[in-house]
Amino acid sequence: MSNAFDDALHSLQLSEDGSYTAYSKEYDEHYHSTKDGALAESLKKHVIPAFSVITGEEVNILDICYGLGFNTLATLLYVKENFPDKKINIYSPELDDSLIKSLEYFTYPKEFEIFREIITTLSREGVYKRANLYIEVYLGDAREYIKKFHNKFDIIYQDAFSPSANPILWTQEYFADIKNVMKCSAVLTTYSIALKTRLALYKNGFVLHLNEGEGFRVSTVAAFKELTEFKVVNMEHKISCNKDVQALRDRDL
Ligand SMILES: C[S@@+](CC[C@H](N)C(=O)[O-])C[C@H]1O[C@@H](n2cnc3c(N)ncnc32)[C@H](O)[C@@H]1O
Repeated sequence: MSNAFDDALHSLQLSEDGSYTAYSKEYDEHYHSTKDGALAESLKKHVIPAFSVITGEEVNILDICYGLGFNTLATLLYVKENFPDKKINIYSPELDDSLIKSLEYFTYPKEFEIFREIITTLSREGVYKRANLYIEVYLGDAREYIKKFHNKFDIIYQDAFSPSANPILWTQEYFADIKNVMKCSAVLTTYSIALKTRLALYKNGFVLHLNEGEGFRVSTVAAFKELTEFKVVNMEHKISCNKDVQALRDRDL
């Protein structure tokens, strides 16, 4: 299918749950798992596990990276349906400004239609502000952007392209900076279950957990303490069985 969203770098792709995602010609990767489905992946690997742990009335979220905005929009959907009184603040860096400008033409799932004004405003102006909601899409490098914050976020959605396609957003040093912006009670969600990703988190003091359930491939939830909601990954055992695996480091890129 071709539409106003398609351009030299992106093309629209139907995913398994009926929602559309995109394929990046630059990174040679899809924005979401086409098997799990774009909307299902956002909800099941990021939003639902994060909000099963984080219960405060005001929640600060770092959405790495905005991409098509599914994690941000799925958050709004889930919060509207389950916690309508929460105040939500979402901060999301995105390098690709032409992608952001094209999003008002993207074929979103019907569940996001109620957010049409938000989608258009973010696509054109990058900021959306109402009484209980603040969203900013920062056009630029996530590694620079996160240096502005300290001890701020309750939730991190770690949803960059894969460690092999975009390693700069998966190194031990990157996760040290991410740790610096997280509250000690915060949680990080990611689709990646790669040992080198988990090692980069583990070396920064994160406790790794398995997020598993019906209809999606397992993913990772990381926090600074053991979470009762998830099964803990025994990292010492994994390290002893895979002695050659190393965390990605900035110096190796
Ligand atoms: C897998 S997609 C994100 C999908 C998104 N979370 C969603 O739900 O639609 C990865 C995004 O990271 C962006 N990106 C790559 N390197 C970046 C960087 N250094 N800083 C900010 N964004 C970056 C890409 O342009 C792409 O849009």
